[in-house]
Amino acid sequence: MHNLKVNLPNNQYKIYIEKGLLHKVGEMIAYISKTGRAAIITDINVNRLYGNQLKDILEKSGLQVKIIYVESGEKSKSLITAEKIYNKLLDFNITRNDLIIAFGGGVVGDLTGFVASTYLRGVPYIQIPTSLLAQVDGSVGGKVAVNLTRGKNLIGSFYHPIAVFIDTELLNTLDKRYLHDGMSEVIKYGCIKDKKLFDDIMKCETKNDVISYIDEIVYTCCNIKREIVEKDERDLGDRMILNFGHTIGHAIEKYFKYSRYTHGEAVAIGMYNITRKSEEMGITEKGTADAIKNILKKYKLPYNMPDVDREAIIKAIKLDKKNKGEKLNIILLKEIGEAYIQEIDIEDIGQYY
Ligand code: GLY
Repeated sequence: MHNLKVNLPNNQYKIYIEKGLLHKVGEMIAYISKTGRAAIITDINVNRLYGNQLKDILEKSGLQVKIIYVESGEKSKSLITAEKIYNKLLDFNITRNDLIIAFGGGVVGDLTGFVASTYLRGVPYIQIPTSLLAQVDGSVGGKVAVNLTRGKNLIGSFYHPIAVFIDTELLNTLDKRYLHDGMSEVIKYGCIKDKKLFDDIMKCETKNDVISYIDEIVYTCCNIKREIVEKDERDLGDRMILNFGHTIGHAIEKYFKYSRYTHGEAVAIGMYNITRKSEEMGITEKGTADAIKNILKKYKLPYNMPDVDREAIIKAIKLDKKNKGEKLNIILLKEIGEAYIQEIDIEDIGQYY
């Protein structure tokens, strides 16, 4: 098993990574639990595949468990769904000493974290992420949120789990498109911080190669994220480098109303296009954009900018909640493995893709 400890001024928690870990979480969660009671929040797909299995595992370790499931997909990341969950938690008499368990992909993780941070002014929660994207990104770092009709993640906070249990075996049932979706974020970690990771995943030839090496991949990504979050928990400085490819990526996702591209696919387009431009400008080492293009092709990820109305993309970028007034922080590469934050005038964003 790979273990990591996230050390923050007001929070410490462990990330456990292992194939088949789900079978061991009963004892581990029973040990953490104060009351022996927990509510699992999941979605309909994960519930169908693994809901009863997790419930049985927890019950065998003496826990009393209720499952709450929501519809799959981004639509569930809403205040309306959160309210339904609050009511279920009340029906089950979940108190502040009990536990909430987020069991699913990014939507479930963000939504559950948001509910846990607000229900009864905060209940401890555990992350058991089931998608690669959630395992390497969303489950670590405490960003929790729901969407508004006017934009994604507009309501939320920083609320860390008390533990993260990552069972990479759960990825066996993940659709190939969503494995590649997660690989886009893995590629991002390679680009911003770890050339060896980038080179290693470039060497994988088949899905089996990736799966046989997945514990190390997830560990490496979580470790990079841990280091960054420890330096900048509130996303005011260094943490922004995790947004490499995301400025353009978010705008593309929004432009296509979150239907044409997955998050990872849109980020893939963002990473390649911003690097192509920064390379042309002489900021990034020559050959970097091609290296990114080749690795994206390998993981069946898109890289070409789709046919879009540039003005609409620029408008979406300007409206992004992360932008401060006239200035915008974009993330550029010096070379594979080294990223930095560049503040630009928001009006100049059109030059970068
Ligand atoms: N997903 C980016 C972050 O956690 O900061």
